[in-house]
Amino acid sequence: MIALLNEIEIGYDDGGTGMPVLFVHGFPHDRSLWTPQLQGLTVQARCLAADLRGFGETTAAAPYSVDQYADDLVGLLDVLHLDRAVIAGLSMGGYVAFALWRRHAQRVRGLILCNTKAGADSDEAREKRRALIALAKEQGASAIADSMITGMLGKTTRKNRPEISNEVHRMIASQPVEGVVGALQAMMDRPDSTPTLATIDVPTMLVTSDEDTIIPVSEAQTMHAAINGSTLEVIAGAGHLSNLERPAAFNHLVSEFLAQLTLE
Ligand code: MLT
Repeated sequence: MIALLNEIEIGYDDGGTGMPVLFVHGFPHDRSLWTPQLQGLTVQARCLAADLRGFGETTAAAPYSVDQYADDLVGLLDVLHLDRAVIAGLSMGGYVAFALWRRHAQRVRGLILCNTKAGADSDEAREKRRALIALAKEQGASAIADSMITGMLGKTTRKNRPEISNEVHRMIASQPVEGVVGALQAMMDRPDSTPTLATIDVPTMLVTSDEDTIIPVSEAQTMHAAINGSTLEVIAGAGHLSNLERPAAFNHLVSEFLAQLTLE
């Protein structure tokens, strides 16, 4: 589906009934990252997944920042007449979830922060992003896919489920270069969300996985210690894309989290 807002078109999926959950993809993905959740959780929840600007079916148009991504998502909630949603963000989607919390806390019913971290980029990380920007501009998104695909998935997935590698490679290679470059700049510029953690007072679940080499489990442990009342779940045998690599385990965790919210 397509929504028109903030002078751009936003591509999104909307399925199921119950508590709204808005799934926010990472870099450089699109909303198809969340296909296993849209397939498995709609019996229990209203599952929304949107393409961030410059990805999938959403218009590539400046400005690119985590704040702008968050405002676009809140614009989508407005279009759908939804006061609040659980925000589930993976990796860069988590950075956007922090921005959404800072700017629109009253729209957040709960947070599911997956394979993400609170800190801003180090100087070294910014240097790597500059190299990726150059690669994207010179050789296109398929070169980005080639350079990222191995690290993005856990060793178990790479060994046992090559079809997932192919699917993720195809997803990355199909993204517009402008969106990829915009997101790299947005991540370089994002603020440190560490001070935000202590302000979070909605139910929060941190999900990570033991084969994630992009954002290690220790990042989730640090956030768990800083977010009051949060829970921490570590999925075994998955890498950075826990929701795609172990979809049944991931969906079970989300389902239990949502069941608790409904009881409150
Ligand atoms: C992502 O999956 O969104 C990225 O790995 C996040 C990042 O590069 O910081």
